[in-house]
Order: sequence, then structure tokens, then C-alpha cells
Amino acid sequence: MGSGARLASRSAAAYERAVELLPGGVNSPVRAMRQIGRDPVFVARGEGAELVDVDGNRYVDWVMSWGPLIAGHAHPEMVSAVSAAAAAGTSFGAPTEGEVELAAEVVERVPSAEMVRMTSSGTEASMSALRLARAATGRDPIVKFAGAYHGHVDGLLADAGSGLATQGIPASPGVTAAQAEDTVVVPWGASPPDIEAAAVICEPYPANMGLVLPRDGYLRSLRGYADATGALLIFDEVITGFRVGPGGAQQREGVTPDLTVLGKVIGGGLPAAAYAGRRDLMEQVAPAGDVYQAGTLSGNPLATAAGLATLRLLDERAYARLDQLARTLAAGLEEAARAAGVAASAVGTTGLLTLFFAPEPPRDYEQAKACDTDAYAAFCRGMLDRGIYLPPSQFEAWFPSLAHTDAHVERTVAAASEVLAEL
Ligand SMILES: Cc1ncc(COP(=O)(O)O)c(C=O)c1O
Repeated sequence: MGSGARLASRSAAAYERAVELLPGGVNSPVRAMRQIGRDPVFVARGEGAELVDVDGNRYVDWVMSWGPLIAGHAHPEMVSAVSAAAAAGTSFGAPTEGEVELAAEVVERVPSAEMVRMTSSGTEASMSALRLARAATGRDPIVKFAGAYHGHVDGLLADAGSGLATQGIPASPGVTAAQAEDTVVVPWGASPPDIEAAAVICEPYPANMGLVLPRDGYLRSLRGYADATGALLIFDEVITGFRVGPGGAQQREGVTPDLTVLGKVIGGGLPAAAYAGRRDLMEQVAPAGDVYQAGTLSGNPLATAAGLATLRLLDERAYARLDQLARTLAAGLEEAARAAGVAASAVGTTGLLTLFFAPEPPRDYEQAKACDTDAYAAFCRGMLDRGIYLPPSQFEAWFPSLAHTDAHVERTVAAASEVLAEL
């Protein structure tokens, strides 16, 4: 089944219509697949670890909506929780017990979380965490890391990874000079400058330049920097939260930030995110305090039900499985590349991995950008033709879920062996 066959299709017709109506034919840039030189697949449905497109083609899905679907597509417990919630009313603009329940789950799992404020997207949550950090410290500058993505927050788009890296955009037009000036960008792995910053924000396991794990002791050194300079340490665990372990990367690494940004898994595939942290900080958020932040659909009952149902599936066995899946797949891909004589290296941790087209795993954004993105694009196209749906960008992580089986891993590695041999 070649890509030509797939493209003379309903997907092609849908895309043709979409580009007239949506900028680039999509509602979020990386979906467009421009960076791998082809048109997107339009999805009809997801079943466990598989996607079915509008033409009936079936794919093993390693994107999983970019992270929220840790239990797989349409997990029966999630679907029944959301159906029950929908039947009881989709939104009230008034408190519900489910929100309190979800906050309690977050506080129980995430070491830094004493209180929680829910939002509808990770972007909103990181934007709000920065506002809180600025209010709490009375300072403006923010330190962020090159290649880290924290959502499309104006001041955080400088040297951001993810879609900006994919499209080679250093920052975005429309961001004011003042907003850009308040952001200090530091290479991942380097010491931040000695300034009076409101906050240092990082992805503790950066996954938006592909997965680039921190060197030993680095996160601890950032904690030390924040303590010494009076800045707040913010961990953006939108990807790693509830994925690399119950309490995210902070629990695994034993480094506790002041504030944590959460998203993706917390909403189980529905729009939910949150920021959380020390009580004395979170009590500055309105209406407990005067740092204003609000949302019509924040803590939405459907999203809350989906998040709760998902978190309840994440026991010790689930994490052992997510760890094994990522490591087995990473090892299989690396072996396939070695056998094909392709310079590629795989990086994996619990529930996350990236295959880099570089002989060694990148340590920072400069090294990630030096990967052979043309080779990645060709690989990705070849995999799609063989029914394996990968992130259409070198600068993204792959997301194993509890629905992936050993057979999915084997099929993926077998397809990769073929495609890599052709490169
Ligand atoms: C680490 C990180 N932070 C924040 C965000 C933004 O979240 P959202 O897309 O829900 O706005 C993302 C999205 O991919 C992310 O990966």
C-alpha cells in the first residue's frame, strides 16, 4: 500500500477543503505534516493503540494525540466516565465534586503540589504560572531553555522547540519586543546567568526537541540556582506528568520545584491542564489572592471525569509496562538502524522515546537541530506507508500507551528495518 494509494482518497479531499477554511488546513501546525513533505491523514477513529483514517487505512499510533492518551484511544473506562458526566450536564460554571477529587489525586501524586488550579490547556497553565511567579517575586525576567516548548505563550516562544523547531521559526512575529526582552534563553545543560529572575521554567525531561534527558545533577543545580537567586523553579510537566512515573519527573529525580505545570494525561484526552505548587504561592491566585486568572471551561466536568478515569488506571504495573514498551521499542529501532548502517540513536524513558537521526543522542537544542531531518522525513513517510503513524517531526517524542502490545512494537521495528534499509 503506497502513499499514492492513500492520497487519492477522502483524506486528500478533506485536506483540499480544509486548506480553504483553516490556516494550513489544520488547527495546530505540526499536524499538517509539511515538514515530512506530505499531506496529513484525516482520522476517522482510534481503537486502543491504532488509528483508522477516513479511507479505512489502519495505523499503529505512536503519537497518541501527543501524549494525553496514556491508556489508548477510547479506553472503555474513560468512555463510560465521560458518557456519564455528559449525561449529567457538560458544563456549569459552578464548582463540582469531580474537580476537588482530581485536585486531591494531583496533590497525592505530585511532590510539589499542595494546591491546584485547573485550566483548559497547557499554554494557559504555563502562562498563569509565570504570572504567579512574577507576582510572587515582584520581578519580570523569566529564564527558559533553548528547545523547550511551554505552549504558545508570547514570552516563551523564543527558541521554543516542537512546531517552531519543526518549521525553523526562531520566535513568532506578533510577540512584542518587551515580552521578548523579559525572556532569557539558556542552552539546556548550561548554568543560567546571575540575574534577578522571577522564575526558571524548564521541561525536566525536555521532549519538544525530541527527548533530551538532563545530565546527572542538572535539575538539582537548577534548584540550587533558584534558591540562591530568589527565583522560583517551575517544572513544566505537561508531557512528563503522570507519564514518566506517578509523580512525574520531579519525583523520579528527587527535585521539587516551586510550581508545576501539568497537562495532557491530566485530561485523559479531553481539554484539561493545571498549575500546582506550594500553598503560600497558590493562595495568591484569585479569589484566594489577587493574581487574576479564570476560565469558562476550567475544571470542566467531562475533562475532569476523563482525567480521573485515566489516573486511576496508572498503577505500578502500568508504569512498569510503559517503561518496558519505550525501552524495547528504542532498543529495537536502534538495532534496526545499526543493521541498516544508518546513523541513528534512540533515547527512551518510561512512556517516552525519540529516534534521532544522529550518531549520538543530542544533549541540547543545537545538537538536536543538527540531526538529519531529511532522513527523519523519509523514514516517517516510509513508516506511514507501512501503517505506522509517527510524529511527523524529528523534534517530538513518541508516546507509548497501555494499549500498545508487544506485537505493535514488533510490527514497528520490522517496518523500521525495511524503511531504514531503503534510506
Ligand atoms: C511541555 C509542554 N508544555 C506546554 C504545552 C502546551 O500545552 P497545550 O498544547 O495544551 O497548550 C505543551 C504542548 O505540547 C508541552 O509539550
